[in-house]
Amino acid sequence: MKGIVLAGGTGSRLFPLTKITNKHLLPIYDRPMIYYPIQALVDADIRDILVVTGGRNSGDFLRLLANGKHFGLEHINYTYQEGEGGIADALALARHFADGQKICVVLGDNIIERNIRDAAERFRRQPEGAHILLKEVTDAERFGVAEVAGDRIVGIEEKPTVPKSNYAVTGFYMYDATVFEKIQTLVPSNRGELEITDVNNAYIREGTMTFSFLEGWWTDAGTFDSLLRAANLVAQSMGGKQPHEEGAPSHTGEAVRV
Ligand code: G1P
Repeated sequence: MKGIVLAGGTGSRLFPLTKITNKHLLPIYDRPMIYYPIQALVDADIRDILVVTGGRNSGDFLRLLANGKHFGLEHINYTYQEGEGGIADALALARHFADGQKICVVLGDNIIERNIRDAAERFRRQPEGAHILLKEVTDAERFGVAEVAGDRIVGIEEKPTVPKSNYAVTGFYMYDATVFEKIQTLVPSNRGELEITDVNNAYIREGTMTFSFLEGWWTDAGTFDSLLRAANLVAQSMGGKQPHEEGAPSHTGEAVRV
């Protein structure tokens, strides 16, 4: 399975922090935001990784990540999203990279305490379809919200005013190769973007969507409050360990290979 980190967008909810840099380059405690989703993929044994970014600061990703030595990788792939077409539009750019294989997509501002290893292993064995990770939250209206009946997701609503459950759809998505055909059928939402929620609903309609619950804490970092929360959660989970240095363990306790 290949990995894709989506790190584009204007980060408008974080203006003026994102006026002169990309959201995913902002610090979360002792390291740049994008380190966390990349580490999450590497921790799940996904080592063939594409970073999708865009905008005026895209070159900074190359300078920061280079070929991924910090994560024990020999190479990282990059591609460039023109305009602001949304998450599913950014994902469409990964078709060539995916080359018919399964993919694990991570939103570049999603940060987790533990890892997604079990879910990835499960999806490697799933013959077709998609797998998403849910997390029970108290502010579900900020997210895609899944309506669950037994072991099935009935539907997902994007940022509903009155959520049908407390189950947020986290920014970790596993898809088979049909995801790119599904994206081609999408129409832009009210906010003018191709929504990842519409991709997920296409799998739900097809009856091939499975899910599991994410263990440990999870947060996004796309607003002032969640950015602060993310930094505090990471700092707390470091539990007095030395802040980042090359070769230091990540907050997940996984050794950072150099
Ligand atoms: C996106 C998705 C949403 C998901 C969230 C997770 O929202 O559209 O369904 O729950 O990421 O972080 P965004 O925060 O990009 O608007």
